[in-house]
Amino acid sequence: APEVPDILSPEFAADPYAAYSAYREKAPLLWHEPMQSYIVSRYEDVSRVFKDPVFTTANYDWQLEPVHGRTILQLSGREHAVRRALVAPAFRGSELESRFLPVIERNSAELVDAFRRDGRVDLVAQYSTHFPVRVIVDMLGLDRADHARFHRWYTSIIAFLGNLTQDPEVAAAGERTRVELAEYMIPIVRERRANPGDDLLSALCAAEIDGTAMSDEDIKSFVSLLLAAGGETTDKAISAVFANLLTHPGQLDAVREDRSLIPRAFAETLRFTPPVHMIMRQPSEDVEIAGGTIEAGRTVTALIGAANRDPDRYANPDAFDIFRDDLSADTAFSAAADHLAFALGRHFCVGALLAKTEVEVGVNQLLDAMPDVRLADGHTPTEQGLFTRGPAELPLVFTR
Ligand code: HEM
Repeated sequence: APEVPDILSPEFAADPYAAYSAYREKAPLLWHEPMQSYIVSRYEDVSRVFKDPVFTTANYDWQLEPVHGRTILQLSGREHAVRRALVAPAFRGSELESRFLPVIERNSAELVDAFRRDGRVDLVAQYSTHFPVRVIVDMLGLDRADHARFHRWYTSIIAFLGNLTQDPEVAAAGERTRVELAEYMIPIVRERRANPGDDLLSALCAAEIDGTAMSDEDIKSFVSLLLAAGGETTDKAISAVFANLLTHPGQLDAVREDRSLIPRAFAETLRFTPPVHMIMRQPSEDVEIAGGTIEAGRTVTALIGAANRDPDRYANPDAFDIFRDDLSADTAFSAAADHLAFALGRHFCVGALLAKTEVEVGVNQLLDAMPDVRLADGHTPTEQGLFTRGPAELPLVFTR
């Protein structure tokens, strides 16, 4: 077997990017016994895993089902297409602009106002972990007094999904959250069906295609998915944009002067330090890939973080460069994206434009509130996590 750092080793956790390069070069198709999964790392192979329908999401039946119930991520084929079409319209650009922009601006502004006179902030603990969850709660038209409760549920769902060591307490907390969220959501869904409003929840209740609509349970499961898929990712994305800019001061100055560069900074952050590093799939039949075979029913782990730094795809891939000309910010938030941070193909992130809007609003407000923002003395941003990854904390200082 080739000598590459083990994916579950401390060496890997400290610097996955060095390990990724060894994987791409020496072991483009690797079997990992403890994870019971193949691993692919080259850009070409990771994008194929997302695009080729032979790679199903059947693995999510046991990975996601216990905490979310059944969501569009588990579905495939026509059933997935119809179910996805029921939820997708609310996340289009026009809806985001007209209906949800005020919700996004307000939630960011409230969090910024809470620390703007302090001269210091931990951007993760005081801002990015709360912002996307609050946006989802408000988009759904739920009670703003329940922001803290949703943040607790969110925390226990993502702990469940990241529970690699199978800690029984974390597992039990996740399953409890599934019950609590159902007890909270189902009566509200019924009420909203009777008295629809101008909110995302009412839109989900009313959506119907060819006689297919979402059941109360489907809607509850979708809300659970939104908390994890839309919360943790955007949290890590916003703090990573700041971490990357603060460690590249020339580029931070450029963005501060010209705010139209924010989408480029976000797109390059998605390539360079993606919030989701790994996604698993399960082929429905034997497939030839990366010089070998993955047998039907085995799982394969596609390394987004490795593919995004493949030198066959990006020049100078280990440099953070918002001005690079091999990454387009015009397509970065659509299904035509070239970086793989939102996946590609059928399950391409539904919330990519929402994430873009949140990051644009958030970074703009943060730069306005902290004109001379810098890292707190002695702090070097460090990422944490395996399947998802981002700054664990980001202590900043600025002149009030
Ligand atoms: C799917 C990443 C923000 C909702 C995905 C997938 C990725 C991803 C990699 C594909 C998962 C797979 O194929 O197994 C991200 C990143 C985000 C982000 C990096 C932020 C920077 C959001 C937001 C929402 C959202 C804000 C909504 C509130 C979804 C949903 C899916 C999805 C519903 C499932 C789509 C399907 O199965 O067809 N996302 N996401 N995401 N994302 Fe996002």
